[in-house]
Amino acid sequence: MVCTGTACYIKGANNLLAHLKNHHDLSDGDTTNDGKVSLLTARCVGACSLAPVVVVDNKILGEVNSEKLDEVIKRCRDAV
Ligand code: FES
Repeated sequence: MVCTGTACYIKGANNLLAHLKNHHDLSDGDTTNDGKVSLLTARCVGACSLAPVVVVDNKILGEVNSEKLDEVIKRCRDAV
């Protein structure tokens, strides 16, 4: 889940969403063909000081950039 609240928006949440669309063919509400990754958005998860924030399997990841996002997607897709 990509946070699109104000702090995360200012710190580049839209760039993360564009990266997910352009490099992983994922838009809000989509699930990958293998069923391993779904993308949702939310308005502030209460960790604004870590913006931009992504929540993966109920864990908050802060200061996320495209490279970090790629690692997360790969880890999720490689999981059994
Ligand atoms: S705006 Fe993203 S955690 Fe608050």
